[in-house]
Amino acid sequence: MPEIVVEGVSKTLGGMLTLGGVNLKAGDRDFAGILGPSGCGKSTLFNIISGLMRPDQGRVYIDGLDVTGRTGRVSYMRQKDLLLPSLNIVENVSIPLALKGMPKKRACAQAAAHFKQFGLDGFEKYYPSQLSGGMRQRAAMLRTYLFSSDILLLDEPFASLDAITKRKMQAWLIEVFNAISPTVMYITHDVDEALYLCDRIYVLSACPTVVKLEITVPFCRPPHGRTIVDREYGVIRDKVMEALEI
Ligand SMILES: Nc1ncnc2c1ncn2[C@@H]1O[C@H](COP(=O)(O)OP(=O)(O)O)[C@@H](O)[C@H]1O
Ligand SMILES: [Mg+2]
Repeated sequence: MPEIVVEGVSKTLGGMLTLGGVNLKAGDRDFAGILGPSGCGKSTLFNIISGLMRPDQGRVYIDGLDVTGRTGRVSYMRQKDLLLPSLNIVENVSIPLALKGMPKKRACAQAAAHFKQFGLDGFEKYYPSQLSGGMRQRAAMLRTYLFSSDILLLDEPFASLDAITKRKMQAWLIEVFNAISPTVMYITHDVDEALYLCDRIYVLSACPTVVKLEITVPFCRPPHGRTIVDREYGVIRDKVMEALEI
């Protein structure tokens, strides 16, 4: 079962101790949120979990296997994960399949089979510049999903969207993830987004970064509908805000 365990990970970057021994995990089909001040090393942590970067100390385990410094097991949507402007959407989205050696035609057909679920139906031949911001993010998300469907690392995927589009995308994400049930780690700087989407939230400190607060979100998905009426919501939100020192 896809379970991610990060154990005692530290990393010095540019002479500065950035990650100072981070421990966290996401259980099978968990949706774990990661919040933390800008520059505390959230993206660095994902670089390490995905195997793109080696930690100075600590290990990363997936399904109990030590995958420290090894890529290929998890999908990773990086912070500015852009689509290639010269390829149409289905070509963009099928890149991970093509990289795995699948012939282009088959890769495109397999990618196209998911377009409806990802709200991209009919836009197969469009180019990235012809799509809205929300659609581009859905396409990038589908591309990430096609790389490996059971573990996704998403680094601030909706940060650049306006508030209304963002809310729609969050609701859409819950719907899609209810259907495909992946294990997700999700970086955001938006406290309400984390409370809306996640089962568990880790709040990171400033550098040298450690986990400052771990919280289980008691609202079940889909969470609180249109209005936040649950009293407990404010209490938890305050705790998270306090840990973030805002
Ligand atoms: N490859 C690198 N070399 C040196 N410093 C880096 C490198 N990558 C990131 N940093 C620095 O490390 C810190 C953490 O960066 P990052 O992980 O991007 O933070 P976050 O995603 O939390 O905003 C920042 O101060 C950043 O400038
Ligand atoms: Mg970042």
